[in-house]
Order: sequence, then C-alpha cells, then structure tokens
Amino acid sequence: MDEFKVRQGELFCEEIPVLALVKKYGTPLYVYSRATLLSHFHKIQTAFAPLSPLICYSVKANSNLSILKELAAQGAGMDIVSGGELVRVQTAGVPAARVVYAGVGKTRPEIAEALRAGILMFNVESEPELQRINHVAGQMKKVARVALRINPDVDAKTHQYITTGTKENKFGLSIPMALGLFREARKMKHVSAVGVHMHIGSQITSVTPYLQALKRLSVLVDELRAAGHALEYLNMGGGMGIIYDEEQPQTADAFARAVVPLIRPLGLKLILEPGRFIVGNAGVLLTSVQYVKRGHVKSFVIVDAGMNDLIRPSLYHAHHQIFPVKKSRSGRLQLCDVVGPICESGDFLGKDRHLPPLAEGDVLAVRSTGAYGMAMASNYNSRLRAAEVLVSGSKAAVIRRRETMADVLATELGAAKAKK
Ligand SMILES: Cc1ncc(COP(=O)(O)O)c(C=O)c1O
Repeated sequence: MDEFKVRQGELFCEEIPVLALVKKYGTPLYVYSRATLLSHFHKIQTAFAPLSPLICYSVKANSNLSILKELAAQGAGMDIVSGGELVRVQTAGVPAARVVYAGVGKTRPEIAEALRAGILMFNVESEPELQRINHVAGQMKKVARVALRINPDVDAKTHQYITTGTKENKFGLSIPMALGLFREARKMKHVSAVGVHMHIGSQITSVTPYLQALKRLSVLVDELRAAGHALEYLNMGGGMGIIYDEEQPQTADAFARAVVPLIRPLGLKLILEPGRFIVGNAGVLLTSVQYVKRGHVKSFVIVDAGMNDLIRPSLYHAHHQIFPVKKSRSGRLQLCDVVGPICESGDFLGKDRHLPPLAEGDVLAVRSTGAYGMAMASNYNSRLRAAEVLVSGSKAAVIRRRETMADVLATELGAAKAKK
C-alpha cells in the first residue's frame, strides 16, 4: 500500500502533513513518498527473487531524475523509449548495461547514441528497424544486441489506448513474422539477436493474459532453439495494474507465483519493465479550489490543476480518488465535477463525485498520480508545469521547481534571436 495516511482528519505523506508542503511550495503540486516508491520496487524484487530478474523501471511512467536515481541506487535498470530518456538515465547515473530500449520509431541518431552508450539491448519492433540498427551499428563498427518484441495477440482487457499486445496494435511482430526476422538477423553482421520481448499493455489487473502470452512465447522459444538460435533473455515487459478505485489486481507475489513456473523451464534471464506498479501509488497531486460554481444539475469545483497537469481522466477516462486533505467543513456530501481551468469540456479530474462542502482555498488530493501524471504534463493554455516534491520521513526535497513563464518562452525567444 502507500504512505499517504489520514491522521486526525489530515492527510500526511510519511511524517509530513501535506498542507505544510502546500504552504511552502504552492499548488498544483506533485508529492511523492520515497518509502512507497522503494517498497513497491522491493515487492517485485522479492516476488521474483527465485529468478533474479533485471528490473528495468519504465522511465516513461515518471522520468524525474531524482526518482530514477532512487531506483537506480536499488539496483534497478531502466526501460527507455527515446533519445531523451537515454539522456535522462545517463544523467541519473544508471549503468548503460542495465538499459533496454523499446519504441516503434527509433531514429538513426537515437540508435547511434544508444550504441555509443553501450546499452544492454534494443527491443526491436519491426523489420525496417532491425535493418536500420544493423546499418547504424555497421557504420560504427559495432554489434547491437537486440531482442525482438513479440506481439502475442492477446487481449489484456484494459483501456483500448493502453492495450499493446493485439494484432490491431502498432507494437511488435507477430509470431510468424518474428520467426522470419530471427532468421534474417542471423545473416546480419552487426546485430546479435539475444532475446524475446513482450509488453501486452498497461494497468492489467489479471494474470491471465500474461499466462496466455507466455505460453505462446514459450512455443516460439522452443522453435527458435530448434532452429539453432542462441537466446539469453526473456523480457516480459510491464503492465501490472494498481488500485485506483475498486480494482483488485493480483499482488506481486501472486503474479510471480503464477508466471514463474512458465518462465523457469525456459532457462532464460528474465527482464521486467514495471512502471505504474512502482510509482503509481507513490504520488499525489495537490490542487487548490478556486471557485465552487453551482450548476442546474450539479456543482463544479474549479481547481488550479487541469488536464495539462494530469491528463489521465481526460485521455483514458481514468478514475482517481479525490478528497480534501483536511476536513474543515461539515455538511452533506454534494454531487460535483472537479474540473480544471482549461478551455476544454474534457478538462476534468473527476466527474460525479460526492464531496463535502468546499470553498476557495481548500486543498484537494488527487490520489495515485505518481505514474503518467507529471510525465504527461504539458503547457497547454500556456500553463506552467507543477513543482514536484519527494518526501522521505520528515524531510521534503523539491525535485522539480515550478516552471516559470521565462522557462516556457525561452525556446521561442531563443528562436527569434537566432533568426536575426
Ligand atoms: C515497452 C513498455 N514497457 C513497459 C511499460 C510500462 O508499463 P506499466 O507502467 O504499465 O508497467 C510500457 C508502457 O507503456 C511499455 O511501452
């Protein structure tokens, strides 16, 4: 679970009342609990200990350098999907030998940078990408280690935007295509195909689709070995779901108990790529009420965080618990939408919520926003991106200062100067 607890009617992050953080740093504010972050990493590590996997934290979930450093210090590797994420993991001091690189659109410069850095392997998503990696590695007189990402065509029963392992999705290769591409890879001088990779989606609350996918991958591994391919790695991707509302995801232990018996007989080194499971419940977004607007059917609680700070409700219809961080007013619960200030009807943090009476200045917590929260934030409506604070016990550190308008305008003013 997590280290955000209500004590005597007030929300604490570890040992700090979150209102003290709001007073010091303002809102919107992302607050993370270090103890929660690390305990979730350790849950996976412990559950899968019998296979000593390399746990490559999925940087896209929350790419703040301090979060990356905390996890790297625990021995985590990193799963990256862009040249930018490569720079982040390098800046955070993550050894390149613990970095894997997925994504359908890797550019030539991105491939070259990753080869120069000496990453563990690329997770290859298509035939032209494999050819490109072979070509770039050849120019650099290197051999690139690759795993082929298999699309096992299983439905992870999650939101359509975060399912990735069916044949309708752009990711990975079908099993017949992968067989052909492994054959091709053997003829290429500058790639070494060392593994198979899958990632079937995100916020998956049942182990069943993983078991279906792993069974298909096991058959493929047998076929590849019979054809003489020397495989070393099986990368099972990420996707393990968390509790936002009333979900009942399997625990890390139950998950491992179910999948380990399928993986162990393959004799391959296991890689995992969890993102949300590690960081999702380690963060909350704090936001201040600006206005309460009475409508005909319900009220609108207008807050200072919007879809630019947290896009998950708008993009995925994701549910996040929302509640006042301190019970200050009594009265009947009221039906309301919690909305942001952005000029879009899709700008909401929660719809049809029952909240106690609220007024200007009250602070709300939007729970379980550590993953795909700040990482997906934007400057839409020229809004400044929030600050981030990491709490450890009774200490709090700003791990990203609040953006200023000067930060936002810098690239545009710089561009104007460069033109002169
Ligand atoms: C290749 C890959 N691995 C891992 C992840 C992490 O997923 P999650 O945060 O659900 O664990 C993603 C997320 O989209 C991904 O694309």
